[in-house]
Amino acid sequence: MAFALCLPQISLSGENALVDLVAHLLNKSIRRPLIVTEQALLKIGLLDGFISSLRDAGFSPVIFDGVLANPTDKVAEAAFSAFQTSKCDSLIGFGGGSAMDTAKAVRAMAANPDKSIYSFEGIGKVGKVGPFMVCVSTTSGTAAEVTSNAVITDTNRKVKMVIIDSALIPDIAVNDPSLMVGLPAAVTAATGMDALTHAIEAYVSVGAHTLTDHSALAAIKVIAEYLPQAVANGKDLKAREMMAHGQFLAGMAFNSAGLGYVHSLAHQPGATHNLPHGVCNAIMLPVVCEFNLPVKEARFADVAAAMGVDTRNMTTQAAATAAINAIRSLSEQVGIPAGLSALGIKQSDLAGWVEAAQADPCSGCAPRKASNEELLALYQAAF
Ligand SMILES: [Fe+2]
Repeated sequence: MAFALCLPQISLSGENALVDLVAHLLNKSIRRPLIVTEQALLKIGLLDGFISSLRDAGFSPVIFDGVLANPTDKVAEAAFSAFQTSKCDSLIGFGGGSAMDTAKAVRAMAANPDKSIYSFEGIGKVGKVGPFMVCVSTTSGTAAEVTSNAVITDTNRKVKMVIIDSALIPDIAVNDPSLMVGLPAAVTAATGMDALTHAIEAYVSVGAHTLTDHSALAAIKVIAEYLPQAVANGKDLKAREMMAHGQFLAGMAFNSAGLGYVHSLAHQPGATHNLPHGVCNAIMLPVVCEFNLPVKEARFADVAAAMGVDTRNMTTQAAATAAINAIRSLSEQVGIPAGLSALGIKQSDLAGWVEAAQADPCSGCAPRKASNEELLALYQAAF
């Protein structure tokens, strides 16, 4: 079967990419975009210049600032209601993964106004491409500006619904590092570890392909080198720019190669305890890599080399093990807690998450299938 590499039509990357965006929008038949963002970003003035430039160029932007971390069905519905009421013709997700995922949910609902947000859960359930959409990323991690994924919490079931459909890939992706210099160190660390997880899961996924392997390895190399610098000094524009590129490369890889059990397992505590996605991933990552190691030894040896380990005199097995040590040490260096217990999770929470983790669409690309008992053991190992 031929391989499908899915990407946004245009990706604007680097300093002042946001300034260039306005020129790219002028030749589109849009005039009234709904900007989907977080109140906190508006408050610090991160959108001021952009909104003024849009107005100066003749656009009439409407702002929805009700995005919350780990966006819920309710937030998505409120944003869609704003889109309809204000008669908007396009979407600009502006923020981290939560803002961009909310914008994607609105796009899905605008394309299918007779359907509920719940009907899109899974793979290929959106079907129709909705309004023109731009995603402007202000973090370096989720790569939501590149991908076909949106994750929305179902508040009744307390489950993160993973919606995967190429109809959700933004028309334009923007990564401007000057928007990222104010990101707190903890968020930089969490989102950066999320990006590392994307790259590693994509590289060992059953869906991995030559067309994704190169970007996955390049992402691992860039993130391992620049994440500590970006966390230590958020104003280091070079480190911010390299992290923006690294997470983008990781997004290019996983959007087509898929993810795995790290994400499936991390989605559950994220939903029930409203925890940062990147932190949950970072904690699960080495544990799931250890589980996958026997079936992907050579690939983990490549990961070690990409992370800067000198593997030349190592056996493949030793190099693969070194990759897991390198992941743990990077995680510790950027201040990620060592285990789930540090996040307020109790032993008694773990068993209740196994079924939802197994059913998560990300599980489909796992290189080594785990039984429910093995998934529970992975949670316990990460506890
Ligand atoms: Fe992720």
